[in-house]
Amino acid sequence: MEATRPLFIPVILGTARMGRMSLHAARLVTSELGQRAGVETELIDIARLPLPIDDAGPAIKDPGFSAKMDRADAVVIVSPEYNHGYSGLLKHVLDSCLKEYIHKAVGIAGVSAGPFGGTRVIQNLLPVMRELGLVTIFWDVNFSTVQKVFDEHGKLLDQAFIPRIDKFLKELIWMAKTLRHGRERISID
Ligand SMILES: Cc1cc2nc3c(=O)[nH]c(=O)nc-3n(C[C@H](O)[C@H](O)[C@H](O)COP(=O)(O)O)c2cc1C
Repeated sequence: MEATRPLFIPVILGTARMGRMSLHAARLVTSELGQRAGVETELIDIARLPLPIDDAGPAIKDPGFSAKMDRADAVVIVSPEYNHGYSGLLKHVLDSCLKEYIHKAVGIAGVSAGPFGGTRVIQNLLPVMRELGLVTIFWDVNFSTVQKVFDEHGKLLDQAFIPRIDKFLKELIWMAKTLRHGRERISID
């Protein structure tokens, strides 16, 4: 039934760097999301998407990624901060779709070695989200000094992140439900 169909909210891990700490953050967010009633999720690792780099945009669309974005009601992007920006590969992957994202919610978690928790990469992603047709929420997660947040095996060392992620996910799920209602019930004309 329409009203009980679970929300699908995949988590996109936005870096392919060897030894990436963002993997731990993405796994934690996926795990917290997976515990929500009425929500299905999965971790999408951009390192595993077979996208060519000699072209860009819809021309290189991966059918699997496209289908997941099409099915999604919202997405979470977990992005490290690289020189205050996002990884080129994350942009390359996001650019491969467009209509799949429209009128869907997005929440962003920033990951940084420095003290600002990826606030600068999040700010830089906001105009990109808008152009893709995604609707940003007003809450983020900031994994600052991430090397102190997780140990080398990915164990969470700072439990304060659990309530922060909870607040972020509550807002994202509310927006995902609201936008699904709009997509399914409200005509744009
Ligand atoms: C090319 C590059 C640029 C980086 N620039 C920044 C930066 O601007 N600010 C910051 O706090 N950390 C910066 N870092 C450190 C990352 O934030 C750090 O590696 C963190 O663990 C998240 O990235 P990761 O998922 O690749 O580990 C940079 C790392 C790399 C590889």
